[in-house]
Amino acid sequence: MKKIIPVVIVLSLMLCLTACGGKAAPGGASETEVPPSSETPEGTQADEAAETEAAPAENTASEGGVLVVFFSATGTTKGVAEKIAALENADLYEIKAAQEYTDDDLNWHDSASRTTKEQNDSSARPEIGSEPISLEGYSKIYVGYPIWWGEEPRIMDTFAESYDFTGKTLIPFCTSGGSGIGRSGQNLAENAGAGIWLEGQRFSGGVSEADLQSWIDELPLN
Ligand SMILES: Cc1cc2nc3c(=O)[nH]c(=O)nc-3n(C[C@H](O)[C@H](O)[C@H](O)COP(=O)(O)O)c2cc1C
Repeated sequence: MKKIIPVVIVLSLMLCLTACGGKAAPGGASETEVPPSSETPEGTQADEAAETEAAPAENTASEGGVLVVFFSATGTTKGVAEKIAALENADLYEIKAAQEYTDDDLNWHDSASRTTKEQNDSSARPEIGSEPISLEGYSKIYVGYPIWWGEEPRIMDTFAESYDFTGKTLIPFCTSGGSGIGRSGQNLAENAGAGIWLEGQRFSGGVSEADLQSWIDELPLN
């Protein structure tokens, strides 16, 4: 019996120490015990306010449409434009020349060809033949074209000068045989005189959807 008493005392002391240790972290226990703010009266009010503010956002969403505008003489830019439109669930608008470009027109080896003459004249404005489009409802507009002599085809300047891009974000893209997009995006922005024109991007005709999606994801849009 004498041997049992010290053992009981030691066990009692150990139990006490364990209990005290449990009390050492009340803060931590109380942090996890705080009810979620959504269950507090203040939280409920905040939720109601958020619901009230969400209504106009739905209205602006219907005005936040995406459009892909493109000009393509031989189909390469058209293919890229269609991929972007599919990824963005966007509408497509093709700029067609009133006077279609023939193979002879597109011959860059000929210094007297139509395209050579147009590209040598920065004031040339070939007429657009496609029906004009209303830009109402579109807030983001991709603008695609091939590179001709290091620049945008002059018909793209016709397009830039034909519309009011106020309040819209424009994203130039191009295809080429290897040249970069150069100053073409800035040229379009200057000729348009309105809109927020992002830095453009050159793609090869065979660009993958995955690469286009990465580009779209990294666009500096707010
Ligand atoms: C008149 C003309 C000029 C061109 N100039 C260039 C050029 O300066 N640099 C380049 O890399 N490719 C040049 N190209 C090649 C086109 O940019 C390229 O083939 C483009 O992908 C064609 O696009 P599209 O099929 O949509 O018209 C030129 C093509 C033409 C017809």
